[in-house]
Amino acid sequence: MIVRKTAAELEKMRRSGLLVWQILQKLKETAVEGASTMDLEVTAAKMIADAGAKPAFQGYYVPAAGEAYKFVLCTSVNQEIVHGMPNAKRVLKKGDIVSIDTGVKLDGYYGDSAITVPVGEVSEQTQKLLRVTQESLELAIDRVRSGNRLFDVCGTVEEHVERNGFSIVREYVGHGIGTQLHEEPQVPNYVDRKNENPRLKEGMVLAVEPMVNAGRPEAVVMKDRWTAVTKDGSYSAHFEHCIAVTENGPWVLTRP
Ligand code: MF3
Ligand code: CO
Repeated sequence: MIVRKTAAELEKMRRSGLLVWQILQKLKETAVEGASTMDLEVTAAKMIADAGAKPAFQGYYVPAAGEAYKFVLCTSVNQEIVHGMPNAKRVLKKGDIVSIDTGVKLDGYYGDSAITVPVGEVSEQTQKLLRVTQESLELAIDRVRSGNRLFDVCGTVEEHVERNGFSIVREYVGHGIGTQLHEEPQVPNYVDRKNENPRLKEGMVLAVEPMVNAGRPEAVVMKDRWTAVTKDGSYSAHFEHCIAVTENGPWVLTRP
C-alpha cells in the first residue's frame, strides 16, 4: 500500500528535507582534498544533533548486511556505488568523486537525499557521469505528477542514462518515504515490468535516486557486507531527492 500524506504531513517532511539539504550543502564544502570521509560524518552528526533530529541511517537494520548501519552518512568514493562507510583513513584526493547520502527524522517524518561531489579537478568523462546522473534525476522529478505512472519516472532515468552511454545499477532502487525511511513503492531507475505500475496521486512522496555507472551495470558487495562497488571498477555516481506529488506539480522537499 502506498501511503499518501496530508498537507500538514508534507510540511513536516519539508522540514526534514530542508535539514538534509543544509547538511549536504555544508558537506559539499567539507569534501576537499585532504579531508577524510570521517570528517564529513562528524560534521553531519553534529548538525543533526544540533537540529534536534534523529539520523535516519544509524541503527537502521539491513537484512542483507545482517546488522544495523553504524553511521549517519554513506560516503561512497569512486567505484563505490552506495553504502560506503565513513573512515578516518579514507582521505580524499584530487580526481576523486564522493557520493554523500544522508537522511534524518524530524517530528516523525523522514527526509533522504544524496549528492556526488568532485574533489578538485576530475576527468572529462567523470564530469559527464556526474552531469548525466544529475540530469536524469531532474528529468525524472518533472515526471512526478498526478496522473502520471510510476514507470514514467523510472523510464525517464533509464532512457537519459543509456542514451548517454552509461549504465543503471539494478540491485538498488529508490523508494516511497514518510513515517518510514523505506515505504512502498520501490522506485527502480529502470522500467521493471515485474513490478506494478501505479498511477501517481497527490500526497505520494517518492525518493528517486539514480545510481549510474560509467562502465558496466553490475554491482558487487565488498567483504565488509555493506559497500557496493562496480564489478568492473568503473566510477559510479548517485543523486537523490524526495519529491511530493501536489496539485501544483512536483515539490522537491529536499531543496529550497
Ligand atoms: N539513502 C539510502 C536509501 O535510501 C541509504 C539507506 S541504507 C542505510 O536506502 F543502511 F544506510 F541506512
Ligand atoms: Co533513499
